[in-house]
Amino acid sequence: MNGRLLEVNNLQTHFFVRRGIVKAVDGVSFKIDKGKVLGLVGESGCGKSVTAMSILRLIPSPPGKIVGGEILFRSEDESGNEEEIDLLKLSLIEIRKFRGKRISVVLQDPMTSLNPVFTIGNQVGEPFRLHEKLSGPALLKKIIEVLKRVRIPNPDVRIADYPHQFSGGMRQRVSTAMGISCNPQLLIADEPTTALDVTIQAQLLKLFEQVQQESNMAIILITHNLGIVARLCDRVCVMYAGRIVEDGSVRRIFKEPAHPYTRALMESVPRLGKKKRLFSIEGQPPNLLFLPTGCSFWPRCSFADEKCKQEYPPITSIEGDDYVRCWQYSGGTVS
Ligand SMILES: Nc1ncnc2c1ncn2[C@@H]1O[C@H](COP(=O)(O)OP(=O)(O)O)[C@@H](O)[C@H]1O
Ligand SMILES: [Mg+2]
Repeated sequence: MNGRLLEVNNLQTHFFVRRGIVKAVDGVSFKIDKGKVLGLVGESGCGKSVTAMSILRLIPSPPGKIVGGEILFRSEDESGNEEEIDLLKLSLIEIRKFRGKRISVVLQDPMTSLNPVFTIGNQVGEPFRLHEKLSGPALLKKIIEVLKRVRIPNPDVRIADYPHQFSGGMRQRVSTAMGISCNPQLLIADEPTTALDVTIQAQLLKLFEQVQQESNMAIILITHNLGIVARLCDRVCVMYAGRIVEDGSVRRIFKEPAHPYTRALMESVPRLGKKKRLFSIEGQPPNLLFLPTGCSFWPRCSFADEKCKQEYPPITSIEGDDYVRCWQYSGGTVS
């Protein structure tokens, strides 16, 4: 089955804090097709997690609020008919039926998603109990099956262990098992490997690759590691200060990054075998409470001119569905 799974249009999620309004997500739009992997990249604080948590309606309120946009999710109803639902229009009871079943999430630090006082079996079984009303031997069988899917050795024994008895990498596998247990159509993985050391990261990435191919679920993969994007993703959205500044196929973005920010991110990727010093992008991402006028990236951009300082750049198509938001491409400045 192909076609669109999720379409986010002009999403706006703001935090109303004492000092003002933090527009953490400010008019974000993107699409993901069934069975595809979309990378969401950008420096810390640019709104990646808030975008992801908005899809699941897990924004803490107050101070957060989704103030605009739509999140269209296409899925099958109980009788197998395809329907398109705006997740923002669902009641909290209705959205709970989606979480963990049609859309699920794997977070960076499994210690925060796993409860230390319950066994692994108990926690991995939760989605089955909740959504599929399983119990007894049928439940046990399902738990062991899903632990096998994430390649945890001796699942029938480990089922009785507690989170602290697992290594970091194994805990992330358990957390992934919970995420994929009900075969969601969309898995959101928010920096799933960031807390792990490099060899464990590689193993976990392989697992993601395998699970994705076996089950054909779509994944939104949040990461600041462009190596991971190159390996796993079909498309990538580059976020800066609450907005998507470039959206494109991984093939094109790695070959010809368009936005100066995307180019800078690319140059900061360490390349195997090259001894080039890892350089980071100069300057800091802006404080979202005090955004500069015009393009938010101009204070760090070597191409910026007057136009960039005055007006936020419009969307310019590059090729296919790819686009960039930069005056260099819409006749405002010369590069
Ligand atoms: N609960 C909150 N209260 C106030 N501001 C928040 C809250 N959660 C996130 N933010 C703000 O939203 C912005 C984006 O955060 P986030 O999406 O977590 O960034 P990242 O791209 O690193 O995942 C940050 O500037 C952060 O300060
Ligand atoms: Mg984050």
